[in-house]
Amino acid sequence: MKKISTVILGLVMCSTLKAQTTSDAIDARVKDLLSKMTLEEKVGQMTQISIEAFQKKIDGKVLDPHQIDEAKLAEAIQKYKVGSILNVGGNAQTQQNWQNRIRIIQKYALKERLKIPVLYGVDAIRGNNYTRDAVMFPQEIAQAASFNPALAKRGAEITAYETRASFTPWTFSPVLDLGRQPLWPRIWETYGEDPYLCTMMGKAVVEGLQGDKLVTDKYHVAACLKHYMGYSMPLSGHDRTPAWIPERELREYFLPAFAAAVKAGAKTVMVNSAEINGTPVHANKHILTDILKDELQFKGFAVSDWQDIEYLFQRHHVAKDNKEAVAMAINAGIDMSMVPLDYTFVEALIADVKEGKVPMSRIDDAVSRILRVKYEVGLFENPTGNAKDYPLFNSPAHNKANYDMAAECITLLKNNGAILPLAQGKKILVTGPTANTMRSLNGGWSRTWQGETSDEFEKGKNTILEAIQNTFGAANVDYTEGAAFEKTTAVDEAVSKAAKADVIVLCLGETSYTENPGNIDDLNISPSQIELAKALAKTGKPIVLVLAEGRPRIVSAVEPLASAVLHSYFLGNEGGNVIANALAGKINPSGRLPYTYPRYANSLHNYYHKYTETKLYDEVAGFNPQWEFGSGLSYTTFKYSNLKLSSKTLTATGGLNISVDVTNTGKVAGKEAVLLYVSDLVASVTPEVKRLRGFDKISLNPGETKTVQFTISTSDLSFINTELKRATEPGEFKLQIGDLTENFSL
Ligand code: BGC
Repeated sequence: MKKISTVILGLVMCSTLKAQTTSDAIDARVKDLLSKMTLEEKVGQMTQISIEAFQKKIDGKVLDPHQIDEAKLAEAIQKYKVGSILNVGGNAQTQQNWQNRIRIIQKYALKERLKIPVLYGVDAIRGNNYTRDAVMFPQEIAQAASFNPALAKRGAEITAYETRASFTPWTFSPVLDLGRQPLWPRIWETYGEDPYLCTMMGKAVVEGLQGDKLVTDKYHVAACLKHYMGYSMPLSGHDRTPAWIPERELREYFLPAFAAAVKAGAKTVMVNSAEINGTPVHANKHILTDILKDELQFKGFAVSDWQDIEYLFQRHHVAKDNKEAVAMAINAGIDMSMVPLDYTFVEALIADVKEGKVPMSRIDDAVSRILRVKYEVGLFENPTGNAKDYPLFNSPAHNKANYDMAAECITLLKNNGAILPLAQGKKILVTGPTANTMRSLNGGWSRTWQGETSDEFEKGKNTILEAIQNTFGAANVDYTEGAAFEKTTAVDEAVSKAAKADVIVLCLGETSYTENPGNIDDLNISPSQIELAKALAKTGKPIVLVLAEGRPRIVSAVEPLASAVLHSYFLGNEGGNVIANALAGKINPSGRLPYTYPRYANSLHNYYHKYTETKLYDEVAGFNPQWEFGSGLSYTTFKYSNLKLSSKTLTATGGLNISVDVTNTGKVAGKEAVLLYVSDLVASVTPEVKRLRGFDKISLNPGETKTVQFTISTSDLSFINTELKRATEPGEFKLQIGDLTENFSL
């Protein structure tokens, strides 16, 4: 009897659980909850406040470890019904402190009459970087260089796990902005300039963060696609300044990655803080509602970026006051406001609704979307978490995954006379401003917003210098900084030490930054670094240039002085080890540039530029970058052969099968990113010289050959026509893999 009832109970529980996890079941729960809510409760759900508003202070100074000022928290939840909290408000906190704070927050939320848990969101960018000791992977731009979405997915899974370990169910990641404006201080937060690469990486990362179930388990989090859309192309290159992007280009280049990630189930979207074509995106109904919610059928919610609704009147001057700004943004399609520090949004929105300026239907839609995500991250079932569930936080396995990823990102751009790898026993001078600082490995969003504390917080990790000492033996390695970013510090000392060395490892680049503080007026690498390089070159000792930087700073004055160039982007906490092991040949570099590396500060092109921008028609200053998109060498050599197409004609309904043999013709094992480009030879909208339409990453032992296969269909050849429709036009196409080409027609 007992046995039977247990079975029946089990069945009932199973079916209830299943019922709760289907989309329809969640809709029903949302509808039911919404029907019980007052206007004030609804507006509260649409409000997101920064934890900074509730931090305990003594004499105006925030306590560290952070503590919650419970009176202020109670006011937020009881009086203003706040439904979401974000951020860290200063230094990263321990996992335990995060868990405690989330417990306190949920305790207050669950005391409310409807018991709706708070949705906590955090910038867990390529790792749960606001929690101390959480693994910090390479930044997105470096991950893109791996051309390996499976690795990025694994990194996202670990990020999700370690974020949940802090009881946080929502990360403001991935950035799906297209990284094609090299001055922009957030280009390193992107997957680079190519829409296809960005799409493939973004999709993999959303899957890694969210898992494959509608309701995430305790190891996954909701993703937030940002910054929808067109944020990354400011004309001036400065953050949050105007962009002019015609809708055809928006749809051709900027939209596809967001569209694919929405299709992959991304639960939330954060909105572009800037303006496009004279309209701030926070006030752009066409982009937020027509395209995102109607056309792409996005079912999640759109959160504003930091203070951006208020900025509609404070900065953009399109609204006369906060009330008008709030109505404008909510009517355009924003569902949640990252206010972030006061309750002006709550008051303004309630007034707007009462005055009929925002319809109740819009409020209900926004709140339903937010509640749905709360159900979908399992918050109602488990608003906090169980600390014991996360034994792998900062584990050897997670750190190894970080190393393995960084090892596939590092990109070898030059290696004259096979100077690399360096033999053991060589006397090495390590110099330059990026050589002995974790800031130039991690960049921004590293325990703090600007990453300025990396040297303090990542003490246990190796800088480039420390790792080179470990790998080559401290007795073989000498060091002097030589130059800081803004001034030379020890050029003479560097020169005299170089005289005693066999080789100079010159580490140049940038320190950490993001957003506005990262704005620059000159893409050239700083003069002090050029001065150091020139002085060292005069010694006649070979120079290996290691770049550690968030954006492609112009190095045309330095590159000719170097025998080898190794690009490390912002490679993360394992960056030092990976650079040293790549110098020593323990890692064979296989990264490829995810952007075009410019040669001149005023000549910025993408690889998918137009024919009129080539040397063919612009003989003097046509496309001539320092290194092209996709550049990347190896310590071995690869030969491409047997490019075969299943047909010379692609039909509207069929697919074209393409195969190519790749052979490792060198002496060491290596990985190769095989890139497939297609050129549309004639089209009604000027075609790009070439577009990436497929890629695959393979490993080959010396002498080994693998056949790589691709299939393309007409949709892979499509473009946005002048009617803003995706179209494919018949005609001739050229396909290129490695140094092989083949034409086919449609
Ligand atoms: C950034 C976002 C970030 C948000 C919350 C903003 O300033 O633009 O990328 O997610 O702050 O920290």
